[in-house]
Amino acid sequence: MQAASPTPLTVLGLESSCDDTGAAVVRWAEGAPPAILSNVVAGQADLHAAFGGVVPEIAARAHAEKLDLVAERALFEAGLGLSDLDAVAVTAGPGLIGGVMAGVMCAKGIALGAGLPLIGVNHLAGHALTPRLTDGLTFPYLMLLVSGGHCQFLVVEGAESFRRLGGTIDDAPGEAFDKVARLLGLPQPGGPAVERAAAQGDPARFAFPRPLLDRPGCDLSFSGLKTAVLRARDTAMAGAGGLRRQDRADLCAGFQSAVAEVLAEKSRRALAVAGDVAAFAVAGGVAANGEIRTALMQVADEAGVPFTAPPLALCTDNAAMIAWAGIERLRLGARDGFDLPARPRWPLDSGAAPLVGGGRKGAKA
Ligand code: KG4
Ligand code: ZN
Repeated sequence: MQAASPTPLTVLGLESSCDDTGAAVVRWAEGAPPAILSNVVAGQADLHAAFGGVVPEIAARAHAEKLDLVAERALFEAGLGLSDLDAVAVTAGPGLIGGVMAGVMCAKGIALGAGLPLIGVNHLAGHALTPRLTDGLTFPYLMLLVSGGHCQFLVVEGAESFRRLGGTIDDAPGEAFDKVARLLGLPQPGGPAVERAAAQGDPARFAFPRPLLDRPGCDLSFSGLKTAVLRARDTAMAGAGGLRRQDRADLCAGFQSAVAEVLAEKSRRALAVAGDVAAFAVAGGVAANGEIRTALMQVADEAGVPFTAPPLALCTDNAAMIAWAGIERLRLGARDGFDLPARPRWPLDSGAAPLVGGGRKGAKA
């Protein structure tokens, strides 16, 4: 049963589970689309650039330094004070534990000081509920999260009810794009660079594997594909005495079409087992890839299901999705105590088999 909650509801959200410090204010009122009043993200890419990946300790310190400033900025941009809020929502996991702790501590401080309810949000629920914020989707819908840190299929049945159909057993696809870019001397983030190079390439020249397509189910794997690119690169270089522009383009095109084909086929299977769903939604940085997006749209089309992808700024890590997930939980009458823990691992679907792969950006579920 849905508990009565005041309307409108105005919630401050905080996000600090990886390498983006975010704060946002979202308002929802009965009968109207939700409004993002502010959405501030302070990235940390510069701090980690020299290390080739996110350094948890550096991330945690940067979050601790930035969180209150970013929260202040979000309130300022929304034109609101703490007394205008109905609750504070915060990512309480999964993610890099130092950053999650910094966020949870900051949220507790604000909630305690301002006498506001505290709502802990699962970061993956934030991603998974975003299409309700942006497109007003109704439950249930199928969600594919594809980014540098996530890769899983979820049937979103309710604000606190998720069924995981499968996910990566090793790398996330964005992580594979980034690694392939590094192997081929392309800049980071690798996805856009690989996509640009692929546009000039022949996807049929290299016969890359389609990992796990020969096995039933919706699990995915991308690390073998990256190794296959490495081997093909070495063979091409040995023949030419260096990596030629056309070889690089062909390697990128072959890799990208393998990822697109695997994601499309697994999405087809996920839609087949998901049951009746209102839509197929995709989120995460990899959804920006033209070939992958087109392949996923075609799968939705074949299945006769509407396709949705939230705007990129709301697909990638942000605090508006956390504020919104907080609103969804508040509407169900949820509140957390000041003993709310920070959790490095927090599967959305406790009934599903645990994910094996942690991903470049830390364990996600
Ligand atoms: O969702 P996101 O911004 O951050 C998290 O991982 O949380 O996703 C970033 C990932 C990176 O690995 C990046 O290489 C990948 O998304 N990406 C792409 C494209 N744009 C970004 N991958 C393939 N094609 C793209 N156009
Ligand atoms: Zn994320």
